[in-house]
Amino acid sequence: MLIAVSGKGGVGKTMLSALLVKVFSDENQDLLAIDADPDSNLPDALGIKVEKTIGDVREEILESRNRSPGKTLHDVLEYHTLGTIEETDNFDLLAMGRPEGSGCYCAVNHMLREIIDKWAKGYKTVVIDTEAGLEHLSRRTTQDVDTMIVVTDTSKRGIETAKRIKNLAADLDIDFKKLYVVINRADPGMAEGIKKELEAFGLEVLGAIPEDRNVLEFDYTGRPLPELPPDSPALVEILKIKDRLTGAS
Ligand SMILES: Nc1ncnc2c1ncn2[C@@H]1O[C@H](COP(=O)(O)OP(=O)(O)OP(=O)(O)O)[C@@H](O)[C@H]1O
Ligand SMILES: [Mg+2]
Repeated sequence: MLIAVSGKGGVGKTMLSALLVKVFSDENQDLLAIDADPDSNLPDALGIKVEKTIGDVREEILESRNRSPGKTLHDVLEYHTLGTIEETDNFDLLAMGRPEGSGCYCAVNHMLREIIDKWAKGYKTVVIDTEAGLEHLSRRTTQDVDTMIVVTDTSKRGIETAKRIKNLAADLDIDFKKLYVVINRADPGMAEGIKKELEAFGLEVLGAIPEDRNVLEFDYTGRPLPELPPDSPALVEILKIKDRLTGAS
């Protein structure tokens, strides 16, 4: 299952991604987490230090610092791409880093995309934390995901972004097998109304994560989210979300 987490800035994409990584990898160790946000903080949320990103590999190759005579560009890219993967006991992590610049990196980007796609297919579960907004759709970095989860808070703009992702995906002929919304920091009373509004728009709501003081505290102290106490309200709801996802697949 290839899951991407998207939505407006600051709504809780990284929090949900990190905890999905936790609950899926607690069950099977065959999980790849991809940080696709150039302003990355998924590694921090997971308590992992990334040495090198795909963006760094791209720059090095383009500056010819890593070309080896007698090897094809594809082989060199593959070697260095796989070298960026951070392995933990429970899951692997790959950070995309800076996105492509405006120069024509077409061949390199195309090969990188192919290498990562092929590599990701070797995992049972892949969780991608995307950058805020809709860019990932127009750049087509999420076109192959089968489960798109749009996170929204209870703000009008968060909800509008969820609706726009549905519309833009349709305009771009991107056909997610499943497109869900998760309401975050939801007041139980408000969540019901928002759920109705989203469903009337044809969006399925997968869950509502409550405000969780532990999440705030962990963020403040820099503790990795997978260490949250098991009775943390956000974690409890995300376990249910995982069950709904696997029940639905
Ligand atoms: N359910 C929650 N309860 C309490 N705090 C939360 C909750 N969800 C997210 N937060 C806090 O809200 C802030 C934003 O969350 P997060 O970084 O996950 O959002 P994001 O969508 O990834 O942001 P960005 O668009 O900048 O990548 C963080 O400080 C996080 O700890
Ligand atoms: Mg984030």
